[in-house]
Amino acid sequence: MTGEMLWYLARAGGFVAYGLLTASVALGLVASLRLASPRWPRAMTTEIHRFVTMAALAFTALHVLTLVAHPDEGFGVAEVLVPFASDREPLWTAMGVIAMELSVAVWLSTRLRSRIGYARWRQLHHLAFAAYGTALVHGIAQGTDTGTPWARLVYIGSMGLVGGLLAVRILGTHRTPAPTRPPAATATALPPLPDRPAAITGGLPPLDRGGTGRRGASQTRRGGGPL
Ligand code: HEM
Repeated sequence: MTGEMLWYLARAGGFVAYGLLTASVALGLVASLRLASPRWPRAMTTEIHRFVTMAALAFTALHVLTLVAHPDEGFGVAEVLVPFASDREPLWTAMGVIAMELSVAVWLSTRLRSRIGYARWRQLHHLAFAAYGTALVHGIAQGTDTGTPWARLVYIGSMGLVGGLLAVRILGTHRTPAPTRPPAATATALPPLPDRPAAITGGLPPLDRGGTGRRGASQTRRGGGPL
């Protein structure tokens, strides 16, 4: 493979990895909003989230390996694994390395969730936002294509999507008002209204509003498998 081909592949790999990372974070946020219907169960969102995350890691590997394989780019194994080891735009390259390592850490923590427990997994899962942010800065600052209209569209669209979903999540505007309970006499005949369906949740956990954020064993998520 020629140096020119490797160069195109490295850049294309970077963009696809970034697009998939955007999709992964967006799907995690959608899962955390608990939007579901009989036609589209949340487990489906969670499953796609998991697949897209794996694909993002695969394209990140392609991005990095093609840079290492390139005869003139000067990236060795240490330069792509150790932040600031490369003397090529050290800060922006380090952002890419950190984004990659955070993505791997988030993925690994999910694989190990049964061992590390829900609370620790939940904390680590928030690193996905840091991975997204550092990849965004890295791509914009270091990319050859940043000035092109299509690349700007990708970056602006991605920020709009993730920023919008994050705002909805933080403000909680998606929540429908709590259903009114029926009169006491009828209520005894009906099953209790479900509390937060923590046992079947996927994606990011609900925001902790003033509580301890801890969950008992009975509330640990079981359905849907790890993200
Ligand atoms: C999650 C991890 C990463 C993502 C999502 C990512 C994404 C991107 C994107 C979108 C670009 C812009 C490409 C262009 O404009 O054509 C880029 C450029 C670049 N990335 Fe990464 N990157 C990641 C990790 C890394 C790592 C670990 C390195 C290791 C050195 C690296 C090295 C580079 C270099 C040298 C460029 C400049 C290529 C050019 O001049 O166009 N990236 N990256």
